[in-house]
Amino acid sequence: MLKELEDLKAKAVSELGSIDNLEELEKWRVRYLGRKGSLTAILRGLGELPVDERRTTGAIANQTKVLLEADLKLKEEALKSKDLAATLEQTRLDITLPGYPVSLGRLHPVTQTLREICNVFVSMGFQIVEGPEVEWDYYNFEALNIPQDHPARDMWATFWIDTEGGERSRLLRTHTSPMQIRLMEKTRPPIRALMPGRVYRYEATDATHESMFYQVEGLAIDRDITMSDLKGTLFEFARRLFGESRKVRFRCDYFPFVEPGVEMAIDCFICQGAGCPLCKNTGWIEILGAGMVHPEVLRRVNYDPEVYTGFAFGMGVERIPLLRYGIDDIRLFYGNDLRFLKQF
Ligand code: PHE
Repeated sequence: MLKELEDLKAKAVSELGSIDNLEELEKWRVRYLGRKGSLTAILRGLGELPVDERRTTGAIANQTKVLLEADLKLKEEALKSKDLAATLEQTRLDITLPGYPVSLGRLHPVTQTLREICNVFVSMGFQIVEGPEVEWDYYNFEALNIPQDHPARDMWATFWIDTEGGERSRLLRTHTSPMQIRLMEKTRPPIRALMPGRVYRYEATDATHESMFYQVEGLAIDRDITMSDLKGTLFEFARRLFGESRKVRFRCDYFPFVEPGVEMAIDCFICQGAGCPLCKNTGWIEILGAGMVHPEVLRRVNYDPEVYTGFAFGMGVERIPLLRYGIDDIRLFYGNDLRFLKQF
């Protein structure tokens, strides 16, 4: 029996030495240490031996088992790390190869313009404030001195959202002017704020009209604010955005929430005022509406018009890149055609 064990051990160890893959190793394990393996058979047969022989043979058989198991484990680890090394070698990445070119994203031309406008006013001490696009009739019209059935409502073709008790009450804001009211309700003068955002008009779209576009509203309220402050501020804005040599022109205009109301134009930056297709031969390009905040509007938010005055202005944003880049269709801005957008 001892001789048998000795031979088995020698054979197993020598076989193990020449195994070079995990599959063969598993077969080897089954052959010697498996349930029907030869060493297992010997261990099982120990019971039939006489007691004292059983003790010595048993001890040696167990040592053999421990030894073979340890060898198995070592071999297994060696083979596994060999496999891993081979896999790593095969799937090796050459990190010196050039990568795919990364295409940089960019800001939408309207966003770029919005940021430019904001930067100019922020540098003059204005704060940026934003508000809801779904608005109440009260803020969009009523508090801006545009009561129900006032003909001036026709200036803004409105998307109504719902009606309350038969009366229209909620809408998509048609301009950013409701933010004037929201801000004045919440704060006390002095106010210098710039309020950018989307606005909506219920109009057929064409090359010069979109049903959604951006506006930027400006509001300054304090004691002793005059029309000169309005003109000075907007003049400075025009020069900063459109060039140091810009001239501005103010003409009377009507908006129910300002008095007096004006529109501001800049001299055409293409022909310098001489007349060209961009300015339709007038030499001037209309940029925004503005005016002194109407006393009625101030009263609505409990500001005493005898103490406080202010100016407000509102401008469309898309018009600026449209003019600057000579784009002939406003719908291109929201058509999401990357070939168009990538040019800016
Ligand atoms: N809200 C006006 C419009 O959309 C523009 C405007 C704003 C005019 C502020 C005067 C003062 O047409």
